[in-house]
Amino acid sequence: MTTPASDNQAAADTGRSGGLRLNDVTLTLGDGDTAVTALDDVGLTVAPGEFVAVVGPSGSGKSSLLAVAGGLQRPTSGTVHIAGTELTTLSDKERTATRLRHIGFVFQQSNLLASLTVREQLLLPLHIDGRLDTTARTRADELIEAVGLTHRAGSRPHQLSGGERQRAGLARALMTSPAVLLVDEPTSALDRVRSAEAVRLIAEQTHERNTATVMVTHDTVIMDAADRVYEMVDGRLS
Ligand SMILES: Nc1ncnc2c1ncn2[C@@H]1O[C@H](COP(=O)(O)OP(=O)(O)O)[C@@H](O)[C@H]1O
Ligand SMILES: [Mg+2]
Repeated sequence: MTTPASDNQAAADTGRSGGLRLNDVTLTLGDGDTAVTALDDVGLTVAPGEFVAVVGPSGSGKSSLLAVAGGLQRPTSGTVHIAGTELTTLSDKERTATRLRHIGFVFQQSNLLASLTVREQLLLPLHIDGRLDTTARTRADELIEAVGLTHRAGSRPHQLSGGERQRAGLARALMTSPAVLLVDEPTSALDRVRSAEAVRLIAEQTHERNTATVMVTHDTVIMDAADRVYEMVDGRLS
């Protein structure tokens, strides 16, 4: 028998343990004759400390999956749980707050702010959240070193190569030790050695910091580092 008290306990446990859960998620984009089913009845559970890879061809729905999982896009139907919170029931404001605090995104385009140095990009989210302290500054410098950008810490995006910008984006996403890390094709602008390093860093952070990580790619290089690999075809996960 389930009592309200045990429900609360279960919810609290899920909240502490983090993780990501998508149930029966469908996403339809566009309408009428041009409507596209970007996600077709997708279910996916990623436990804390687990590194899941999703491989699939261009147009199969990989970026859509991350947009929905990270609360950037509301699914047409289905539910998304992040760190024990059901995203689709939140207001836009609450969803944004949850995203800032619990979700790390590494986008295909690094989305760095033009006027900030690498180090400032990492510190900004904590500054906004009022959590900028010595620990945060130390962590920023450690992550910058981990992605091999120490000599670039004071550089702005236009002074960086495409690969350096992606590595800066990765370091920024790891800065808040997010419960859920969502990575979109991180290796596209990196050479083989650099992309293997980036993937290794993501795997390491996932296991050390108990992050639920999903990485989508068409590059099979990442498959060895992942705990589980799914294939995405026409919006369906298998
Ligand atoms: N804003 C949009 N409006 C209509 N269709 C879209 C939109 N964004 C993506 N799509 C379509 O949704 C499908 C999945 O796209 P996407 O998730 O970007 O795939 P992937 O990341 O695997 O390349 C594709 O058919 C794409 O053309
Ligand atoms: Mg994509």
